[in-house]
Amino acid sequence: MQFSANIEKLKPSATIAVSTLAKKLAAEGRDILNLSGGEPDFDTPAFISEAGIEGIRAGRTRYTPPAGLPELRKAIAARLSEQAGRELDWNGVVVTTGAKQALFNTIFTLFGPGDEVLVAAPYWTTYPDLVNIARAEPKAVFGDESRDFKVTPQELEAALSENTRGLVINTPSNPTGAVYSLEELEVIAVWARDRGVWLVCDEIYRNIYHEADRTAAPSILELPESAIGDLVLIDGVSKSYAMTGWRLGFSYASAEVSQKFTALQSQMTSNVSTPSQVAALEAFTNFDEARASIEKMGIAFTRRRDLAMSRIDELLPGVEYTRPSGAFYVYFRVDSFFDAEVQDASAWCSRLLEEKGVALVPGAAFGDDRWVRMSFAASDEMLEDAFSRIAAMVGAAETT
Ligand SMILES: Cc1ncc(COP(=O)(O)O)c(C=O)c1O
Repeated sequence: MQFSANIEKLKPSATIAVSTLAKKLAAEGRDILNLSGGEPDFDTPAFISEAGIEGIRAGRTRYTPPAGLPELRKAIAARLSEQAGRELDWNGVVVTTGAKQALFNTIFTLFGPGDEVLVAAPYWTTYPDLVNIARAEPKAVFGDESRDFKVTPQELEAALSENTRGLVINTPSNPTGAVYSLEELEVIAVWARDRGVWLVCDEIYRNIYHEADRTAAPSILELPESAIGDLVLIDGVSKSYAMTGWRLGFSYASAEVSQKFTALQSQMTSNVSTPSQVAALEAFTNFDEARASIEKMGIAFTRRRDLAMSRIDELLPGVEYTRPSGAFYVYFRVDSFFDAEVQDASAWCSRLLEEKGVALVPGAAFGDDRWVRMSFAASDEMLEDAFSRIAAMVGAAETT
């Protein structure tokens, strides 16, 4: 069958594919530890869910403006203004169906045929695919492993061409958990500004931060305004508030650009589900409860992060991993376990799922199939069990 050139390079999300297979095997009765997903294992905090339910009862079930309820956009702008330490215009906020739609709006609006978009790698699997959907060219730029893969202006400069129009970075990073410092963000922002390159900065994991020096990862918005050129900030409630199923994210950009995003969205999906907006409004305005729930989940995530690192050190000695300073993934290298049959992380993950029932995401999804990503948004027991099974498989492989 003939399809349009629009979807010539389209493929389903690699991370969702693994997770779906793991869920299918579990449904068939297999004992599966699914550590491939990208969502918190907590329920949405009750104060947020209740607000959504109350919204439905109160009849808040009709269309809203496509860019979202004005009160929600204002509440998000107030949160971002606090983050930035300066007043930000709420007309720059567009509420979207998950951060994914904010990224789609951004990439589809700003880039097209003939444009190149640099993607800091390893990257979240969706970025290059969205660039492909826009029929622009994604170009992965790998940071050095010694810097937890964070990219530098020098590496970006080497990848620059006359067609470069954009750069996508993600901090804290999915899959590595690496977090850019403010200084690192500043030199990248200045580089993008000076080169006239759009900077798309995805900070969806900002509130899941494991280091003791701050309560949240540094944000691009904290930089002096003069350091920032053309910027789109991406964020949402999926990870911070365990609201993946409510489908609510947002972008922040200039009011002019946001009007374009809104026009695009008005032709596609219109507004985000109204009860979800009402629930998110509570998350952005009930500060005490919001802070308490972020802290509660954060404590668990940090404990599990420490557990995951110590189990790698103990049970998989010599295996390299990036220290996750944020998010809930540990990214580790498995090519030392390859053998005659298993020559890449995709095959290694298939073997692990088949033989030991542990689902991880192979690095092919993130641009380097020597690595794998494990989500530690799971109980301590599950993580312990997963590492024992991995160690058992690796041990068995060594003796054969
Ligand atoms: C880096 C990153 N950005 C954006 C998203 C999309 O989040 P959502 O569409 O649920 O808001 C995800 C989800 O896994 C992600 O990992």
